[in-house]
Parts: sequence; C-alpha cells; structure tokens
Amino acid sequence: MKRLSFISILLLSACQAAQTTAIADPAIQRGFEAYQQYCVSCHGAGLAGGQAPSLADDNWEYGGTDADILKIINEGIEDVGMPEFAALTEQEKQDLLVYIRSGGTLKTTMPIDDVPSVADQVQIEDWATGLNAPWGVHFVGHDMALVTEKSGKFWQVSSKARMEITGIPVSVDKGQGGLMDVATDPDYANNSWVYLSFTHADETSKNLMTKVVRGKVVAQGDGLVWTQEQTLFQAKPEHYISTGRHFGSRITFDDNGHLYFGIGDRGKKDMAQDISKPNGKIHRIMRDGSIPKDNPFVDNLEAYASIFTYGNRNPQGTIVHPDTQVVWETEHGPKGGDELNSIKSGVNYGWPEISYGRNYNGTVLTPHTALPGMAQPISQWTPSIAVCGLDVYTGDLFPNWKGRLMAGSLRNQSVRLIEVDGENYLGEAVLIKDQGRVRDVTTGWDGAIYVALPNKIVRISPKP
Ligand code: HEC
Repeated sequence: MKRLSFISILLLSACQAAQTTAIADPAIQRGFEAYQQYCVSCHGAGLAGGQAPSLADDNWEYGGTDADILKIINEGIEDVGMPEFAALTEQEKQDLLVYIRSGGTLKTTMPIDDVPSVADQVQIEDWATGLNAPWGVHFVGHDMALVTEKSGKFWQVSSKARMEITGIPVSVDKGQGGLMDVATDPDYANNSWVYLSFTHADETSKNLMTKVVRGKVVAQGDGLVWTQEQTLFQAKPEHYISTGRHFGSRITFDDNGHLYFGIGDRGKKDMAQDISKPNGKIHRIMRDGSIPKDNPFVDNLEAYASIFTYGNRNPQGTIVHPDTQVVWETEHGPKGGDELNSIKSGVNYGWPEISYGRNYNGTVLTPHTALPGMAQPISQWTPSIAVCGLDVYTGDLFPNWKGRLMAGSLRNQSVRLIEVDGENYLGEAVLIKDQGRVRDVTTGWDGAIYVALPNKIVRISPKP
C-alpha cells in the first residue's frame, strides 16, 4: 500500500471541495459526486485506484456483481481498511454503483484556488534578467541554458552574461506564435543536436504553421551560430492557416528514440478531429524526422503519418516522465477545462466534441464532457489557469518533490507541483504565485527550479 505523502494529505480536503461539471447522465453525475465525497481519497480519481484498488479495472477481489458491491458498501471489509457506508441513502448507493459501472468516465475537477501552497518553503531569486518573453528554457551545462524568446531571438544564457545565437530560421511573432520551444537531444553530449519549434510562414507570408527543426550551435569568431539545420516536421503548404492562434508546442523525447511535439488547433476547432490535418494533434517522429513504423495512422494514406493523438486543443506543455515513460501533456481549454492528459498512441482526446470548458462568451460549446471513444483528462482546471510549460522535477535540492510534474500557468501566474503515481493524479500544490505569467519551468543543472517570467528567469531553491 502506498504511503500517503505530504501533498496527498494536504489534498484530501482540497479534493473533497472539488467542483463538478454536469454530464448527460444524471445518475452517473450523482454517483460521481458521492464517489468524490466518500471514496476518492482511497480509490483514486476516476476509480483508477490509489491506496485502495482500482474499481475500473474489472478485477474484483470480492466478487463483482451488483450485490457484492452493494454488500461491501453496506458492510465494509473487515481488517483491510475498507470502511462501511451503511448510513448512505439507498439512492446514493445505487448512484455509486452506476458510477462504478460507468468505468469512471468522469474524472475529478481539480480546485483552482483551493490548493495548498508550498511557497513558504522556497526562495526566489533572479537568475537572468533583461529578457523579452522567454518561451523555452533548457539547461545545457553548469549555469548555462539555451533560451528562446517569442520575438524570434535565441540566446545562450548564464547568470553572468548572454550571447545571441544567430542564423536560426525566421519565425513569425504573431498572437500566440513566435519562436517557441528549445530542447537538446538525449544524446546531446555526443551529437550536439538542438531542436527548435517555431511559427513558420509560407511563401505568401500570410499563412502560418508550427515547424520543427534541429541544428547545432557552434562558436564562430566572437559569436555563436546555428549550423547544419535539418527540417524535421513541416506541414503541407495547403494546411498553413492565417490565424495567430494555438501553435502548441513543446518538444520532448522518450527512451526509445521518439520525439513528441504538439500543434494546437490553430483556432479551427473542428480540424482537431480530422487526421488529414496537422493541427490539434500531438505528433511523434524519430529524432531525425523519420516516421516511427508503429505510429497509429501510418496505414491511413489521408492522415499525417506523424500524428500520435488527436482532439488536442492547444498543448503548450509536453514531457515524458523519466521514471515511467508516461507522456504527460497540458493543454489550454477554452473558458475552463484546461487539461492534464496522459498521451497514448491513437487516442482521441475529444476536442471540440467533449470539453469541460465553455465558449469565451460563456455560451455552451458542447453539452458533453464525456463521450464513448474519447479519453478523459487525468485532471482538469476550471476556471482555466492557462497552462504553459511542463517538466518533471529531477533535482536533489527538493528530495521530496522528485518525480513531481511542474506545470506553469500564464493567467493564474503560478507554478503547480503535481504529484502523480504512474498515470494517476494524486494532488497538487502551488509552488509560486503572482510573480508574473509563467511560460516555462524546468529543473536546472544544480537541482534548483527555473521559471521563465515575462522578462526574466528566476531560480527557486529551498528557503534556508
Ligand atoms: C479509507 C479508505 C477507503 C475508502 C474511503 C473506501 N474504500 Fe473501498 N476499499 C478500501 C480497501 C483498503 C479495500 C480492499 C483492499 C484489499 O482487500 O485488497 C477496498 C475495497 C473495495 C471494494 C472491493 C474491490 C474488489 O476488488 O472487490 C469495493 C467495491 C469498494 N472498496 C468500494 C468502495 C466505495 C464505493 C467507497 C465509497 C463509498 C469506498 N470503497 C471507500 C479502502 C477504502
């Protein structure tokens, strides 16, 4: 049995205060609410299991008939820590049964403001100042990071100085687009490959799409230049779109040679469901840009073979967890319904058919938060916190936080420290708040946490 950690304990009360969202079937909805109140603390969000077993895996230790489950609710299971809930109304017991039978399609809505804070345990100091909207921060060595600015400039930054890297591709700083993420190859020490994602214009200069390249940064004279560029992903010309909205995109790698990146729906929501279009998707390619043979849509001649998942609105956080290889993703909802997803091959994440959000003007976008064949988020934030930047804490300065996700937020101006176990969400805490809009967060070479704010990068370390 997994021991409750610090954050989980803090979160038990927060979870119970979680908001809920209406779904089509009122009995499932009521069952979900009862489950949130009485069962979630042990059996986990979405029935997925926690300290007590999953109730969604169809693996029943004590018999899985309706009568068996009602008996357990009424009598508990002696000596193993399953309490009795005889005092619930018959209606509540029936609703719980309906919810358990639904397989937990409706997951927890996480509280936004009612979240414990660990901000008093940390100190924040400036690490690099005078930057203009840093978008991606990636450490390459001792006190040394590669940093993109949305405006299109690319820097090698240390706490003492910074040097521009010239010769990178021209990007278009429009709306949410610009020069976006930077990452280095998992074998960077040997091959020096650096990866960039950016907003690329077609020949007309009017139409835009996310493009991914790699290249090498070399010293030349007194400066640093970008060389040996290779295009890894570029959309078909007819799929470039003029809006300045929803470009994605983070770059992350798993241990099997794959590179993942996301492209937002580009403000054309219905295209997120169309696998002949590149937008509203998470893509998976090899590090040299070739297509993995086991990508889910390689046999569909209409589809982009690089598509790994679809129905993703605007993913601005993607990270492979080094301990579990789970691909975590955060994506912006519309008004509400920002999501934390576990990304799996071929899965439809539902945008815009299902969402916990609404249109920006408050009108109903879709009546559905869940539909068959579409994955539920692992958790979601309503109202939106505007999620941007996602990493896993891998340092030694905060030993208790190792393996936690760190999610940045633009609108809520916070970094959330999220405790996960495999694919389960266990809870979250606010690491910093109200320091400015957060575009990226990462573990530094020294085990401190580095956060990209509107015009600087700050270093977060334990309070002495
Ligand atoms: C304090 C923790 C806790 C709470 C709260 C709790 N359970 Fe349990 N539950 C357990 C444990 C522990 C087990 C059995 C573990 C074992 O024997 O392997 C269990 C077992 C069960 C089983 C049997 C699973 C099987 O494999 O046959 C069901 C059904 C169940 N719980 C339903 C519920 C429902 C419904 C609620 C809310 C009304 C609930 N539990 C609340 C701890 C809890």
